[in-house]
Amino acid sequence: MPAESPSTNARISTAGAGSRAPVGIFDSGLGGLSVLRAVRAQLPDETILYAADSLYAPYGERDDDFITDRTLAIGEWLVRQGAKALVVACNTATAQSIALVREKLPIPLVGVEPGIKPAALQSKTRVAGVLATQVTLRSARFQGLLERYAADCRFLCQPGHGLVQAVERCDIGSAELRALLRGYLQPMLDAGADTLVLGCTHYPFLDAAIRDIVGDRLTLIDTSVAIARQLERVLDQHGLRAAADHDDSSAAVPPRFYSTGDGSHQQQLAATLLHIDATVEQVLIPSRRTATPDSQAA
Ligand code: DGL
Repeated sequence: MPAESPSTNARISTAGAGSRAPVGIFDSGLGGLSVLRAVRAQLPDETILYAADSLYAPYGERDDDFITDRTLAIGEWLVRQGAKALVVACNTATAQSIALVREKLPIPLVGVEPGIKPAALQSKTRVAGVLATQVTLRSARFQGLLERYAADCRFLCQPGHGLVQAVERCDIGSAELRALLRGYLQPMLDAGADTLVLGCTHYPFLDAAIRDIVGDRLTLIDTSVAIARQLERVLDQHGLRAAADHDDSSAAVPPRFYSTGDGSHQQQLAATLLHIDATVEQVLIPSRRTATPDSQAA
């Protein structure tokens, strides 16, 4: 589900920003590309700036202050690049920091959160699994989602240790990855789950590997299409939608890719899974916490 409706106190001047300005999409790493894919399908006239904080991924292994610090720094950086709206395409960053970042940034924000509501609505066995990062699962936001929407549905919450790291190195199907996934999914199947919430934007890239293990026993809940629709509503509400460019008969403008890492895996994943051939510009985005020696990537 999209995390919430647009900020009511967004301070951007829609006239000044211009609807031709780009939309910023941010994730700790490559997972947000699954959201970018849905946004491009839903809003083909929008230009997208995608920033991956791959140097500091996974966020799921970081402390709360670090996640907030990086989310804010990258949000501010995207505003400086001219973004008219920001999609925080990371469940972990949304869970930890969206309220604060929403306060600080002068543009509308869309966050993401695990699809507990759709899962509870559609599970027939009333048992559903959730795969997400440890940080997301233990967050107050996630606990609030369960309280609001789980109703009589039992959710088996499983931290997906190691899965973000696998996608970050473009591993979406190795034997080791499949063994890891099987360890997470088999107990859900044994408990009678019929639904699986993909509560991390990296995980839709593992759908084929998951399918190989669970067959059609689990319905996968991926909220990227709902996020793209929420972005569309937010842009409309703020008068920020890009007009269709009727003079240009070519396909959607390629996104501009940025990474705090070397970008090679981002380029590879975008090319193989999204069929987007675009170079990735490596950028330095300093923040309070990354100035300290213990903050460096492992
Ligand atoms: N894609 C991020 C999410 O949705 C991954 C977080 C991480 O880097 O651990 O939570």
